[in-house]
Amino acid sequence: MNITFEGQSVLIAGAARGIGRGIVESFATRGANVFAGDRLADEMAGLAAHKTALDLRDKSQVQAWVAGSEAIAGRPVDVLVYVAGGVLGQSAKPLEEVDEADWRAILDVNLTGAFLAAQAVAPGMKARGKGRIVLIASGAGLRTSLTGIQAYASAKAGEIGLARQLGQELGPFGITVNAVAPGFQRTSPDYERQWNSYSPERQAGMIENTARRRAGTPQDIAHAVMFLASDYADFITGQVLSVTGSP
Ligand SMILES: NC(=O)c1ccc[n+]([C@@H]2O[C@H](COP(=O)([O-])OP(=O)(O)OC[C@H]3O[C@@H](n4cnc5c(N)ncnc54)[C@H](O)[C@@H]3O)[C@@H](O)[C@H]2O)c1
Repeated sequence: MNITFEGQSVLIAGAARGIGRGIVESFATRGANVFAGDRLADEMAGLAAHKTALDLRDKSQVQAWVAGSEAIAGRPVDVLVYVAGGVLGQSAKPLEEVDEADWRAILDVNLTGAFLAAQAVAPGMKARGKGRIVLIASGAGLRTSLTGIQAYASAKAGEIGLARQLGQELGPFGITVNAVAPGFQRTSPDYERQWNSYSPERQAGMIENTARRRAGTPQDIAHAVMFLASDYADFITGQVLSVTGSP
């Protein structure tokens, strides 16, 4: 199977770090015209992509980013990958101590941002009769979250529900919508902090308890995303694909 995105316009929302960065690099090396968006302008500097600094929680900024990308490419967006999210530096607290603003902040970037980005690319994809949307959810949305953060588990389950519902709605227009659910990876400061909070025994156990006996990488996630974004996945929609090295 030789997947190429030659001439296709691919938007990566949340592109500066970790998994998003790996996805940008994977699409770029397969010929895609990549549009990278993130709030961290400096950290996008080295990416082989058109780069836009934006807040993905803001509808007008998301709409302007999509319109600008379509104008530069001269075609509708072929592929949207929504990666932005994470736990925003938060740690687990008992339910009764969780601040409402903290709850909303995690829902906003992980779930509402995905909704806004899908909403912005859908008209162009519909007009063309083809499109691919892939949302980066998490094992936290299928089971419970290692982080213990209620909003994170809820937002990631929400992304999986959004992919399922949009897959149904947009299928007749030639658009597929799927989610990829990574397991734990040491990709960024938040995840490094989480890893460092574990005992050496727990750290070793995380590898030993992974069927493939290794840690996952951003490339592992990128490979799943590229399959779902390719023509080979035309009959797959509304699904969630776990990429965790375990059943
Ligand atoms: N690393 C893991 O263990 C793991 C596991 C499962 C799922 N995920 C998910 O994978 C995705 C990527 O996470 P990651 O591991 O690469 O690290 P990360 O959390 O650092 O990546 C998130 C990216 O989104 C960007 N971002 C955050 N808020 C934004 C906003 N309002 N506007 C624009 N950009 C914003 C960040 O700057 C960053 O580049 C996240 O959705 C995360 O929840 C990660």
